[in-house]
Amino acid sequence: AKLSVREALGAQNTSGERIKVQGWIRSVRSQKEVLFLHVNDGSSLESLQIVADSSLDSRELTFGSSVEIQGQLIKSPSKRQNVELKAEKIKVIGNCDAKAFPIKYKERHPLEYLRQYPHFRCRTNVLGSILRIRSEATAAIHSFFKDSGFVHIHTPIITSNDSEGAGELFQLEPSGKLKLPEKNFFSVPAFLTVSGQLHLEVMSGAFTQVFTFGPTFRAENSQSRRHLAEFYMVEAEISFVDSLQDLMQVIEELFKATAMMVLSNCPEDVELCHKFIAPGQKDRLEHMLKNNFLIISYTEAVEILKQASQNFTFTPEWGVDLQTEHEKYLVKHCGNIPVFVINYPLAIKPFYMRDNEDGPQHTVAAVDLLVPGVGELFGGGLREERYHFLEERLARYLDLRRFGSVPHGGFGMGFERYLQCILGVDNIKDVIPFPRFPHSCLL
Ligand code: 4AD
Ligand code: MG
Repeated sequence: AKLSVREALGAQNTSGERIKVQGWIRSVRSQKEVLFLHVNDGSSLESLQIVADSSLDSRELTFGSSVEIQGQLIKSPSKRQNVELKAEKIKVIGNCDAKAFPIKYKERHPLEYLRQYPHFRCRTNVLGSILRIRSEATAAIHSFFKDSGFVHIHTPIITSNDSEGAGELFQLEPSGKLKLPEKNFFSVPAFLTVSGQLHLEVMSGAFTQVFTFGPTFRAENSQSRRHLAEFYMVEAEISFVDSLQDLMQVIEELFKATAMMVLSNCPEDVELCHKFIAPGQKDRLEHMLKNNFLIISYTEAVEILKQASQNFTFTPEWGVDLQTEHEKYLVKHCGNIPVFVINYPLAIKPFYMRDNEDGPQHTVAAVDLLVPGVGELFGGGLREERYHFLEERLARYLDLRRFGSVPHGGFGMGFERYLQCILGVDNIKDVIPFPRFPHSCLL
């Protein structure tokens, strides 16, 4: 039978069953009478130990080569592993010149170094673990929403709306790779989506609770550790919601349930990340999971920041958006527990946010969740469902409010920032297989 390395490692039958495994060599160690190989196929962090006769010609069995091994699965005499494969036949499928291979045997390459090789770094322990966790977290998010009764919606990637109005969208132009078959293909300007929100709002008007989880694009000209040009966003929209409290509850549950599922489904991978990239992160994550998230208003946040304004490059001021340095300060101030900041000035939030009808400092029912290490992780709020309020703001959005309009709200979470937050990964480029950012589109 052909087994994955994970299946072989977990096999109950170790009485010499004949199996076949395929994978890449992670280590070669030859002793007097035996040759030890470790083979990994990406199914688990742990590699399978292969024991071969030392008379075997091992010249081609180099670090990085792909191999197929047939042999008998037996109980390992060593305490390091439960099972090992006693090789009967080893076939090299693709050899690897270990000297030329950018990943070196037994070396701990810095993450910045590995970033140059998106096509090879996935074969290291650390990126292997991060990307397996990414896969688990994706499944966990889908199952969280499914269990909570949400309907999954595929929102379009090509769109004619710019919901965030941030002016940093990618336009599909009749030139280069994004060329459309006809110059005037859609008859309207079309963009790569910055958010699925408006489409979700439409769908929440039929299915009540909806979510989407797909790629979004922002032509952000920023080389920061938390921005990508292409990132995945988890977005939810819920009808008949009329308080931020209800939204915040879903956000907190989503954050915690996903982390718990990841912790229980791939504990070895999480442990490796926590140990090698962010010592102390295990405790920091536990701290986030066991405490209730905090809530402060934007106005309170600005007051807190003003008390500490000597710490900042940008002076905090009511009516101006919070800067990354402000967000990080607030999280520290709150004891490194994620904190919701609510009720932002109307002037600095997108047109769809619901008017709080307060004053003289006019605010809207917006909510951001700020988290340790990252700053803003979620952005959302109640939507303006009242026709006459929006009439003044934007004509395009109005049809959605004319027929059976209901109070509703939603949020979006940057998936990469979530992975950064739970794993303690400093740079967003290390939690996505192929990062896209200004002047970089490797592969
Ligand atoms: O705060 P944002 O811009 O909110 C929206 O797009 C709403 N329409 C979402 C909604 O309510 N349905 O983006 C949401 C989150 C941010 O909080 C951040 O975590 C992430 O998306 N994000 C980015 N992540 C990586 N790279 C970028 N360039 C990002 N821009 C936003
Ligand atoms: Mg935002």
